[in-house]
Amino acid sequence: MKALHDSVIGIVGLGLIGGSLARGLRKANPKQRLIACDANEESLASARQDGTIAEALSLSELCVQADIIVLATPPIISAELLHEVASVAQGEAILTDVASVKGLLAEAATGLDEAVRRRFVPAHPIAGSERSGYAAASDRLFAGRKVILTPLPENDPQAVYQVHAMWRLLGAEVLAMGLERHDQVLAATSHLPHLLAYAIVDVLAQDTQRDDIFRYAAGGFADFSRLASSDARMWSDIFVSNRDRILEVLADYSAELARLQKLIATGQREELRQLFARVKETRDRFMTEHFHTSSPAAAAEESVTFHLEPGGSLSGSLRVPGDKSISHRAIILGAIADGVTRVSGFLEGEDALNTLAAFREMGVTIVGPDAGEVSIYGVGKEGLKAPRTTLNMGNSGTAMRLLAGLLTAQDFDSELSGDESLNKRPMSRIAEPLRQMGACIDTAAKGRPPLRIGGASLKGIDYVMPVASAQVKSCLLLAGLYANGRTRVFEPAPCRDHTERMLRGFGCEVTAAGGHIEVSGGQRLTAATIEVPADISSAAFFMVAAAISPQSSLQLRHVGVNPTRIGIINLLRAMGASIELSNEREVGGEAVADVQVSHRPLHGIEIPAEQIPLAIDEFPALFIAAACARGETVLRGAAELRVKESDRIEAMASGLAILGVETEMYDDGIRIVGGELGGGTIDSRGDHRIAMAFSIAALRASAAITIRRCANVATSFPGFVTLAAGAGLRIREERGGDS
Ligand code: S3P
Repeated sequence: MKALHDSVIGIVGLGLIGGSLARGLRKANPKQRLIACDANEESLASARQDGTIAEALSLSELCVQADIIVLATPPIISAELLHEVASVAQGEAILTDVASVKGLLAEAATGLDEAVRRRFVPAHPIAGSERSGYAAASDRLFAGRKVILTPLPENDPQAVYQVHAMWRLLGAEVLAMGLERHDQVLAATSHLPHLLAYAIVDVLAQDTQRDDIFRYAAGGFADFSRLASSDARMWSDIFVSNRDRILEVLADYSAELARLQKLIATGQREELRQLFARVKETRDRFMTEHFHTSSPAAAAEESVTFHLEPGGSLSGSLRVPGDKSISHRAIILGAIADGVTRVSGFLEGEDALNTLAAFREMGVTIVGPDAGEVSIYGVGKEGLKAPRTTLNMGNSGTAMRLLAGLLTAQDFDSELSGDESLNKRPMSRIAEPLRQMGACIDTAAKGRPPLRIGGASLKGIDYVMPVASAQVKSCLLLAGLYANGRTRVFEPAPCRDHTERMLRGFGCEVTAAGGHIEVSGGQRLTAATIEVPADISSAAFFMVAAAISPQSSLQLRHVGVNPTRIGIINLLRAMGASIELSNEREVGGEAVADVQVSHRPLHGIEIPAEQIPLAIDEFPALFIAAACARGETVLRGAAELRVKESDRIEAMASGLAILGVETEMYDDGIRIVGGELGGGTIDSRGDHRIAMAFSIAALRASAAITIRRCANVATSFPGFVTLAAGAGLRIREERGGDS
């Protein structure tokens, strides 16, 4: 396939969108060969005159010459033209469109040859204006705007890559979603508002007093009715093409209007006020989350407080969200693989979503997540594009450290940053071995983020990790895939091996023996299918909850029980807990089981050193189990806990002290004396696992517990409060306010 800059791009229709695309492409690359056709001679003449297009052609001439053909006509015309274009286009040509309704185009595409369907990539730039025609076209129309690709299941990843690259060149943020979802979302967010604008202007226009009304109409009317100046031809097409979806949202909207009408007619002032206040809050939140921040990373900054009433027990059966470690890795490996990787059970938490956003920014088309389903159109090992901004990894150490390994091997510069917590975490542990491999990587003072990375060629090394860290190991293995020769990472104790397992699933050779893991550079990855198990680190809170609260018995379904992750099960069992595994099976190279946990009195233990890496994220939950156990629990050799999302030894010791639990802190651990738990207000330090640990403590507390700064629970466990309340926790969430 030709490189984008060598491709001839043919634009069918030089209206606002087609014209802006042409102008943007011309500006981005003065040498790009652009050709166009349009029924409007005037538009073509202007585009020739201002140097935007090289040639104005007939449709068939254009199709014969173009490597990429963009249908920029109204949706119904595009659907009608598709077959004609496909029949004349040259064999390798990529077809795409800009229609705001995709179902119609997909339907039209069903009749195309398989080979053509592979290269027809539907797209929709969500940029427009109430103005229309070539005269209104602007080379900046798509800068910073979203373009949604809706690839067909059979699309060739190379064709998707090219269409993505074209929009990216214009400064757009390229997203992707399934066709049906697209039409549903657009019906609600774009089509309905347009319909309402047309309707309100029409109502006022029919009024006998209309001149007066329009004369006195102020800003609100102008704001609201702006969309009614949109292109009539195009919008009539859109409503007819997306009829079913629009009728669905219109029915909801009509019901809402009828409700408001009733409230007004019956003078329900207070009800109206409450409704408006609620709506205002929703809209304000939506504007800050989606319009005023550059990445999803900032969403967690909102204040969230958990309120827990004491007592309760757990019962039933539940499945916690997907594994965070595996979700990150699925995106990373899928992005650099050849082919399309399909993921199910993906964790739609902020950490994994930030990883996903980072790869989109580097030119990878990722469809979803939609109910845990994600499709990643791999760009191959050398296909990533230089990010246009600093990549914000939010709260996630895993994302930052794994991406650093990958980015050092690229031929472009990049920068990785994070939130307040991540920007305090140690990065020398990866920067130093990466430098030994030849990487150019700079940290801020004291080895902290942001990381500035320059492209370099790497050589394989032998590296002995001072601590057993899966993040360091994975970072070096990813760099090792690009390095000359072999890379060997020696681990002082086994730690999670998801990277090794998944790399094998992508067809790479990775050996693990004698305490070290080895990869050779130069291997390619082949796309895979990944089923992400439920996260044992999230399930851990419920395991401890059921173990400590009398009369509890809870089933946790489809939990990942990889042997390098089951420290929590081993340790709880050692404390006397009743935990049964059933339905044990393997999915995509990872062990999975259903886990039944029932209440039984626990006793304190000395935590064996070899269990520490296997339970590294579960200590906040385990400390709560220890606080509820008879006797003492002692942990030593776990200094790593001080450099997690918070200093977890200090955060847990302070919180436990508030609840009246006796503890003694060590540099590398803690001693906890089990006993009675009181209530109080606890600061989670913005650490998701501290917030969830103290939530379950309430099951055994004698008074209410309030936990502040809980927004980051969304990084690993979206929906925690609902799931926990459903299982029996007396938990309530408060958003906003002073937390
Ligand atoms: C992780 C490894 C662990 C763990 C983290 C996830 C991973 O970190 O604490 O939550 O996905 O590789 P370390 O490698 O720093 O121990």
